[in-house]
Amino acid sequence: MTAPRQMKLNAFIHATGHHVAAWRHPDAQADAGVNFEHYAQLAKTAEAAKFDALFLADTVAIRDGNIESASRTARYIVQFEPLTLLAGLAAVTERLGLIATASTTYNEPYHIARKFASLDHISEGRAGWNLVTSATEGEALNFSREKHLEHALRYERAREFAEVVTGLWDSYEDDAFPRDKAEGRFFDPDKLHVLNHAGKHFRVRGPLNTARSPQGRPVIVQAGSSEAGKQLAAETADVVFTAQQTLEEAQAFYADVKARAVAAGRSADAIKILPGVSPVVGRTRAEAQATFEKLQSLIHPVVGVSLLSSMIGGFDLSGYDLDGPVPDLPETNNGKSRQALLFGIAKRENLTIRGLYEWIAGARGHWTVVGSPEEIADQLQERFEQGGADGFNVMPPYLPGGLDDFVALVVPELRRRGLFRTEYEGRTLRENLGLPYPHHSAAGLAQAAE
Ligand SMILES: Cc1cc2nc3c(=O)[nH]c(=O)nc-3n(C[C@H](O)[C@H](O)[C@H](O)COP(=O)(O)O)c2cc1C
Repeated sequence: MTAPRQMKLNAFIHATGHHVAAWRHPDAQADAGVNFEHYAQLAKTAEAAKFDALFLADTVAIRDGNIESASRTARYIVQFEPLTLLAGLAAVTERLGLIATASTTYNEPYHIARKFASLDHISEGRAGWNLVTSATEGEALNFSREKHLEHALRYERAREFAEVVTGLWDSYEDDAFPRDKAEGRFFDPDKLHVLNHAGKHFRVRGPLNTARSPQGRPVIVQAGSSEAGKQLAAETADVVFTAQQTLEEAQAFYADVKARAVAAGRSADAIKILPGVSPVVGRTRAEAQATFEKLQSLIHPVVGVSLLSSMIGGFDLSGYDLDGPVPDLPETNNGKSRQALLFGIAKRENLTIRGLYEWIAGARGHWTVVGSPEEIADQLQERFEQGGADGFNVMPPYLPGGLDDFVALVVPELRRRGLFRTEYEGRTLRENLGLPYPHHSAAGLAQAAE
């Protein structure tokens, strides 16, 4: 008998929390960005609750375009480099998946292949790579560039980048290392594969100097929702993160990406779709509402306007009437889907500039739910059971309290409904996500030859 379908849950961690004013919450760990113990405790909390993974987002620049706003914000100002932090968290956890963002625009494939394969070995099969093309002009300035690469070119480079990384991960076959001291054979040369990649953006000979990792290949995650983003994800990602506000938008995105994956010759189950959700939970709805209003009251207008300006593509809104309508602005070269999503909210909800920045202050356009454990479980269950999600990227509004509340109040309710695991199914992130083991391409060839 097949096991009932259950939700996959990630803890999407931003140092002090996802709400733009999280660091000012009285219970938030304001020095979180440089506090390893804080992250270690969050990881242990997520593992004790049997979450699939902890995810660390990243950008390779601070957002100091508006220094007044930047000086009043904790997000992306100071934080650990994510892979370095995950290596530390691997040592204080055993089953929790460890997913980090790394940009294909501001990295080289050989480095990325090596770092994630190493993390997969260190964590005994729990590594995941969130492949992004980076979304801000500021990052280009830290890598000897005047401008951020064009959107289409970024994705073209990302596609080749992913191809090279997965090719390097197959440098050695699973059983390539006899380490036979008596015979003096360390590895079997027939099980070494030199990549010799030559493409438009990269020339990479290989092989990688890291053995094939416990998961075969670390899990690949993607978070792009534009046309190019969805197509790349459907062809190469194991997991897709996305921001979808309404059930209908979530269902449309889910059906679209799954259909593209099947059209690309994959099974629909081989790709898991995890929309973001920022749950503000209380024992009662009133308690949750009070927590939400507390956070909203801590938003400094300069920070709110600056957040909105960066999310809609870097257009400075500080000169506009905050209580006036959101202006029509041209399409951005930055995150296309996020800009479209925010303009959609403004139109649908008829919001002013202040109204829109207050709307996105909690989770930057991701779905925010405020309520009792039952009310939040109802909404997650609806999206999960009605073709909108395979699980969720849980975005605690402030930390550690926002994660502690979700784990203490919502997880037991999801379990009571049979919607979430009580024990891990396996040892690796792939096993717990229910993803197939990616056999070495040579093994496939050998089987084909039989
Ligand atoms: C859950 C989630 C996490 C993301 N994490 C990052 C990140 O860590 N770093 C980053 O530069 N972009 C991140 N992004 C942005 C995406 O990579 C991408 O730029 C954005 O979704 C726009 O994609 P598009 O241009 O394909 O529409 C994230 C997006 C989502 C939905």
